[in-house]
Amino acid sequence: MRQQARNRNTFLARSNTVCKRSITHYAVNLMDKQLVRTCVSLPNDLLDRFDEIISERGYSSRSEAIRDAIRNYIVNYKWMTEVEGERIGIISLVYEHDQRGLTDDLTEIQHVHMGLITSSVHIHLDHDNCLEIIMLHGEGKSIKEVAEMVMALKGVKYVKLNTISPGKDFS
Ligand code: NI
Repeated sequence: MRQQARNRNTFLARSNTVCKRSITHYAVNLMDKQLVRTCVSLPNDLLDRFDEIISERGYSSRSEAIRDAIRNYIVNYKWMTEVEGERIGIISLVYEHDQRGLTDDLTEIQHVHMGLITSSVHIHLDHDNCLEIIMLHGEGKSIKEVAEMVMALKGVKYVKLNTISPGKDFS
C-alpha cells in the first residue's frame, strides 16, 4: 500500500493528465477509508462559485463538497448508462456560441441523428451563452449517445439528460 501511494505521488508530480487519473484512485480508496490527496486545475471563477455554494450549504470543508460532487457525477453516469428501451429524451445544454467550430459540430450531430430528434429550442441566454433544448424519441441507448457526444464538445458548459419511458413512467 505504501509503495502504491509513493507511485501515485510520482505520477502526480509528472503531469496533469495523471492527476486526472488519480481521481479514480481517490474515489476507489474512499471505499476503504483511505484518503488520497490529488490535484485539480480549475478556473478561478468556477472555484469561487463552488465555494459560495458550499458555504451556503454549510459544508465543513471543500474536500467534503468535492467528494459529494464526485459521487453525484458517478451516480449520474451510472444512471445514464442504464438508459435503454423506448424513451422520450430531453437534452438541455448551455454553451458558448463563439467557441470555434462548436455551433457547426452541434448542428452536425443533430443532422446525423435527425431520425431521433423531434424538435429543439434555442434561447440566447446572454451575450456569450446559449441554451438549447433538444427533444428526442427513440432507443434510450441512442439518445444517451447523442447526449454524450454533446457533452464531449469543447465550449459546452452544462448538459443534462432527462428521459421518460412512454407508457411506463405514468401508467
Ligand atoms: Ni444563442
